[in-house]
Formats: sequence, C-alpha cells, structure tokens
Amino acid sequence: MTITAPECLPERGLVPASFALGQVMLGLKNRTLDMSRFSPVPEDVGTPTLDEGHTEVRRQAWLNSLRLADHADYARWTLDSLDEEQHPDRLRKWVTAVSLAKQKKAKPKALNGIAYGNVGSGKSTAVIAAGGYAAENGLMARYLKHSHYLQWLRPNGAPAGYSEQQVRKLFADCDLLVLDELCGEMDNANDWVRKESGDLIDARVASGRPTLCATNLTSSRIGQIMGSRFLSRLGGGAALFEIVGDDRRGPVSWGGGSEAAGPSWG
Ligand SMILES: Nc1ncnc2c1ncn2[C@@H]1O[C@H](COP(=O)(O)OP(=O)(O)OP(=O)(O)O)[C@@H](O)[C@H]1O
Ligand SMILES: [Mg+2]
Repeated sequence: MTITAPECLPERGLVPASFALGQVMLGLKNRTLDMSRFSPVPEDVGTPTLDEGHTEVRRQAWLNSLRLADHADYARWTLDSLDEEQHPDRLRKWVTAVSLAKQKKAKPKALNGIAYGNVGSGKSTAVIAAGGYAAENGLMARYLKHSHYLQWLRPNGAPAGYSEQQVRKLFADCDLLVLDELCGEMDNANDWVRKESGDLIDARVASGRPTLCATNLTSSRIGQIMGSRFLSRLGGGAALFEIVGDDRRGPVSWGGGSEAAGPSWG
C-alpha cells in the first residue's frame, strides 16, 4: 500500500508534524480502515496474566468477606501500619510459613494462630491486616465472625443467596480463615453450636488449612464453652499472639460512686 504525500501544504515554512500525520491518517481512512474507530492502548495496559487474575480474585474474595461482616473499613490496615504490640513481624512470618506450606503441599508447623487480649486492644485490626497480607501473597483468605457463621447456618439465615451447605464449604475450604470474636458474647453453647463450630475447625485441621482466631477469652473459658475437643483441635501447636493494652476506643465512663450520673473521663 502506498500513501501519497499530502496535496495541500501550508504556504510557507516547514510542515508541522501534526498536519502531516493528519494527512496520513486521512489517506489511510480513504483507502482502507477508518482509524477513528480505534482508541489508542497505553503501552502499560496489557492483558492481565493468569497470576494477576488470580491475585485479583483473591483480593476481591477477601474484601467481600469483610463487607459481608460489615468490616470493610478495616481493609485499610496493613501489617506495616500496626503497632509493635500487635506483633506485625510475627504475624508476617506466620502467614509466610503458611503460604510456603501451601506451595509445598505440606502442613505448616503451627497450623493455627490465636490472637487474644482484652476488649479494644487491636486484635481484629491485627488479624485483618494479616489476612490482607495473605490474600496478597497467594492465599485465598476469608474473614468470618463466629456469631455470623452460626447465624448464617440457621434456616434462611445465609446471606447473598447462599445455601447452608455453601456457607459451610466457603469457610471450610479457603486457604486461610480469619475467625474473629471466637465465642464472642457466649456464656455457654448448646449441642448445635458445638457441633457446627467443631465441624468447621475439624474440617480445616483435617485438610491442613490454617485458621487465625481472635478472642477476648482465655483458653480455659473457651474450653468450658465449646468443650475440650474443640479446644484441642484449635489450640494444638497453635502460634499465640498476645495483644493487650488500653482499650484503643478510649471509652468514657460514667456513674459509679455517689456522684450523680454524668459523663466523666479517666
Ligand atoms: N495500630 C493502631 N493504631 C491506631 N488505632 C488502632 C490501631 N489498631 C487498632 N486501632 C483502632 O482501635 C480500635 C479497636 O481496634 P480493634 O477493633 O482491632 O480492637 P479489638 O481488640 O478487636 O476489640 P474487641 O475486643 O472489641 O473486638 C479501632 O477503632 C481501630 O481502628
Ligand atoms: Mg475485635
């Protein structure tokens, strides 16, 4: 194909590049293709590789699980933004070990992780930062509150059109389950609660899939509520992350003593 030089040139001086290019494009349009129908593709935007695609699927699955639990605002936390008291380095090492074990199709040495401490010490923030790090590093991670799991297994209780069976599978099969508020607000547990919770942990332990829990309760209290079998499965060889300190929410206190009720600080 030959493209002829532009016929009408500006009267004086050099031909501006844009003018020449415009003429070339006009020539092309008249001969074959209408180039105006094609938009330019920036050089750095290519077809995503399979691996990039998987990373995005994992990221979205992780964010969706936070959204389902109304915890999407915690997604902004990363291990780098935690305080030392929240053990960012040890959490990173634990997630890395879990990720390596998955690659080698082996069980990690410390299969489960347990972050425990007082109310408001920053446990959820820490385990969610660890889950986000896992999702960025090759693991399909999901966040779940214990009470939501039980609620979603009730008849017609599952969210987003899931069946009970799908809910069980979703959280039993993911590479890393971040199980928050373990036994939260529970004084005791009936047989059904023990069975569903136990089956979830059993399935995960049997298939070598790690669970990172956060709780305000001591192990003996969890043993009283859920039974020793559950505690043994969950706690066997687990990595412990003690996260204690002032309640970061800085709650005000009131009442108490003989003073008239009214807000007070400290
Ligand atoms: N490193 C941090 N720097 C600043 N604020 C933080 C940090 N970690 C957590 N927070 C904030 O402290 C508050 C309590 O954190 P978080 O919800 O993680 O506590 P928790 O231990 O899970 O509480 P609970 O026992 O009630 O579940 C949140 O508002 C959170 O944003
Ligand atoms: Mg919490």
